[in-house]
Amino acid sequence: MRAKLKEIIERAVGSEAGFDIMVSDHVEQGHYSTNLAMRHAKLIHQNPLDIANDFAERIKSSAPADFFEKVEVAPPGFINFWLTPSAWHGSLDDILGQGNKYGVWNIGQNKTVIVEHSSLNIAKPIHVGHLRNAFTGDSLANIYQATGYKVVRWNYLGDWGTQFGKLIVAYRKWGDEAAVEKDPIPTLTALYIRFHDEAKNNESLEDEARAEFRKLEQGDKENRKLWGWFKKESMREFNRVYKTLGIDFDIDIGENFFEKELERVISELTEKGLTKESEGGLIIPLDKFNLPVALVRKSDGGSLYLTRDLANLEYRLKEYKPAKILYVVGNEQSLHLSQVFAVFDLLGLGQGVELLHVKYGMVLGESGKKLSTREGNVVSGEEVLQKALGLARGIVQDKNPGLSRQEKEDVAQAVAIGALKYTNLKENRNSDIIFDWQKMLDFSGDSGPYLQYTYARLQSIKRKARRVDYYWPRRQLHLLKDEKELALIRAIAEYPYALLAALENTAPNLLCSYLYGLANTTNSFYEACPVMKEEDSNLRVARLKLIDATAQTLKSGLRILGIKAPERI
Ligand code: ARG
Repeated sequence: MRAKLKEIIERAVGSEAGFDIMVSDHVEQGHYSTNLAMRHAKLIHQNPLDIANDFAERIKSSAPADFFEKVEVAPPGFINFWLTPSAWHGSLDDILGQGNKYGVWNIGQNKTVIVEHSSLNIAKPIHVGHLRNAFTGDSLANIYQATGYKVVRWNYLGDWGTQFGKLIVAYRKWGDEAAVEKDPIPTLTALYIRFHDEAKNNESLEDEARAEFRKLEQGDKENRKLWGWFKKESMREFNRVYKTLGIDFDIDIGENFFEKELERVISELTEKGLTKESEGGLIIPLDKFNLPVALVRKSDGGSLYLTRDLANLEYRLKEYKPAKILYVVGNEQSLHLSQVFAVFDLLGLGQGVELLHVKYGMVLGESGKKLSTREGNVVSGEEVLQKALGLARGIVQDKNPGLSRQEKEDVAQAVAIGALKYTNLKENRNSDIIFDWQKMLDFSGDSGPYLQYTYARLQSIKRKARRVDYYWPRRQLHLLKDEKELALIRAIAEYPYALLAALENTAPNLLCSYLYGLANTTNSFYEACPVMKEEDSNLRVARLKLIDATAQTLKSGLRILGIKAPERI
């Protein structure tokens, strides 16, 4: 609908000053409003109100007769528009015609975007911060996909570094094969912690670890085998958790893969005159960017995280020719990524390629402090998941005891994961979030389960309707005259723009708040306008059509957030 309005405005008065179309907060201020007259007034130094009045007249008279109900001017120069019910009926008709394609864009056509997220570290636990990272990355990837981009989802595994020397030493001294196989991550983490404890009183351990890592780098068979095994066991665990979360990747090439490229990258940097020797190491000065120097080779010849990222970047550019790369990575690595991006700039590699560090806030417990167990350890992703599942099972049992065991379990999974994802996504990406279990699972609040419940309710009406209105007569959308019905059509019509705003601002929370608003509008429609109790079968069918469009929009939006929409809850 916005597109149509925009077209009418442009046809009537042009758009050289540029303008926005906003959805009004209150229907008293119109369905939409525009700042067009104010923009224009600035350009030609005239009174915005006069221009607004003039434009309002011209816009009204150039529109099709049944399009505007009312066009009004409001100080300091807004033009507010109310569209006729018949314009909205046309919009609903169009939405129904698009079916489940409704809402998608093709702005990204022929463009690739790489979304790197999670980037899990081998032998280390998945913690709550990783969950926020994964939910953010996955929903952004979905948003890009829904707007027509080709998306490459990349888990850049942390599978290299001196910690593997430590792990090899610790495993040989205290390790147990069966324990690693049974419970890989906790076992390996414990070995790593023990290494550090023992190293406090035994300096030679660190030397041993360095030597083992060096051997690993040089391709020592035994060490490679151990490393490969640690990686395999860790991946088994990661895949299990990510499968439950419903998140998958196209690529999981990790840091190790780029080892063999490093010398080439370093000589390239040197040939371009970007590097300098410093205290035996090799650096790139970045004063031009107001950044500290980037170290690309250590004085002992050892390789670096930064250099691997540079090699990775070159590889990505070459293999995928992306228009954009999103790095979903915590705030702590801002400096690191700024340095990577600065070197990318110096190299002049990817003209027109946009690199973006997608940061996110912390996940805190109900006390506002970092989430931790009673022992003071950081809570693992798995613990959070299990807790959410336990609570959701209880709720599903209460709400819908009649479901089969398998159905209950499926619904509980969808609800628990939906609750976790929504809680993580609904806040502005950069704000810290507080885990409040009750709110997260509140079926009537701003929560994932509330949206799922709203959807399930609509589906249940549709199921009932199928029995009664088996042959739906031709839809007569013009019967939808109630303000609640029209408000719901207006809300559905905003869906593509909510998606667009989420894309443009790299902000899944905008999609969350849109869906929350849509669910609220749906529920007040539903309370005011009973569907199956409506006697007039034509109106009943028109309402069912409205429900159809609503359900489909909710489901589509939830899917983009990575949240399942069960048919029953
Ligand atoms: N695995 C790294 C860590 O946990 C994060 C990787 C971030 N991505 C990157 N391209 N450097 O610290």
